[in-house]
Amino acid sequence: MYKITPLQDINAEIAIPADKSISHRALMISALAKGKTVIKNYLESEDTLATLACMQKMGVKAKLDKKNNTLVVEGRGPYFPRKSKVTINAGESGTTIRILSGLLCGQKFPVKFDAKPALKKRPMRRIVEPLAQMGANISGAKKFDNIFPPLNIKPVKKLTGGNFSLRVASAQVKSALLLAGLYAKSDTLVREPFQSRDHTERMLKLFGAAIDTRDRLTILHPETKLVSPKNIFVPADISSASFFIVLGLILKNSQLILPKVNINHTRAGLLKVLERMGARVEILNRVSGYEPYADILVKSSVLHATVVDEEEIPLMIDEVQVLCVAAAFAVGRTAIFGVNELRVKETDRINSIVVNLKACGVNIWAGPAKNKLRNDDYAIMIDGLNPFKAAKFKSFNDHRTAMSMIVLGMASGITHTIDDVKCINKSFPGFIPAISRLYENRKV
Ligand code: S3P
Repeated sequence: MYKITPLQDINAEIAIPADKSISHRALMISALAKGKTVIKNYLESEDTLATLACMQKMGVKAKLDKKNNTLVVEGRGPYFPRKSKVTINAGESGTTIRILSGLLCGQKFPVKFDAKPALKKRPMRRIVEPLAQMGANISGAKKFDNIFPPLNIKPVKKLTGGNFSLRVASAQVKSALLLAGLYAKSDTLVREPFQSRDHTERMLKLFGAAIDTRDRLTILHPETKLVSPKNIFVPADISSASFFIVLGLILKNSQLILPKVNINHTRAGLLKVLERMGARVEILNRVSGYEPYADILVKSSVLHATVVDEEEIPLMIDEVQVLCVAAAFAVGRTAIFGVNELRVKETDRINSIVVNLKACGVNIWAGPAKNKLRNDDYAIMIDGLNPFKAAKFKSFNDHRTAMSMIVLGMASGITHTIDDVKCINKSFPGFIPAISRLYENRKV
């Protein structure tokens, strides 16, 4: 159990860990280019270490150099060194199993792709079916109307490309298809209903892949040799930063500066929504490159409710819970549409935010949005500025749920508890120490 106590009057700089999504991709794609790639600032969290362990088990030479904060990868080209059947484990990392499976469909050895119990509950049909359409030999455990890990992937002679229109905007699905597309004999086209994060496309371009991106359509031309850029810098993760962005806005008389945070527009949806709500956010020292990054300065703000549309959600898919926290501090009723995908994350994140916000006295409602176009969609409504009451929050073994509730608790003016904070190591192992330092350094 972890105690959350009130805080205010903070002026601090907080180092945010490296981007999880970019770290996964930097490692996987570096392994496909001949020669050495030095990845500066590879994220050391449970999920990204799971990807590293999988790669190493398949014979990829990749070594963490803790002194220099780098991961050094010795790539061997498109085919991993492994010759015989292997079992690898994605732990609890959805990105590892979904993205890497695409790449493994093109390899020359059979793989059993296992997972920890929490990930065995997450749906894989969304990748298995389209990969099978590309000619891959991939299967998993069939239950109800879906497919779950472990996945079994067997080598095939050659994959074919495909022309896919995704039903949901998912960067994991898009990335799996594009990585499989590297091994296909024809082009792979992926069309999304709304734009999702484009890190795979950017990383492939950085390695010289022939890939065209036009708004929501991505076309990968296969048979290109990937060439290492030699050095890759992974900026800080805006999803991890989002907890301190919101904290800086809702704490009284405070400001926080977060250095070198990735501000790729396909990830920065939260910033746009918060600005609309009246947030005082400044983007400083912008650097452009394969991924843009900047220092983010946030100051205590008076927030106003807003309406968030379905197409904004993929640009902030992992930040919706912390946006709900911000909405609990805003004047008026915030409505967030198109949140159905939150139900299949580490936990059902609609349920976890509703349970936790209700527990501390926030008026929150979630349910079918009665959208005329899609009948499977969900919306969330939150009334801001209800008086808070002391709560026993639950993490639901979800790192982002836990961090969201800690942020709310700190700014609520009263003391709460949360049952578990260990799950935060999935993406942000230094989160609790960073919070403790804020209490030590408060202004006097
Ligand atoms: C991710 C994509 C998102 C996100 C996840 C990481 C990625 O999932 O929620 O945390 O790295 O591609 P979906 O693509 O399933 O929306």
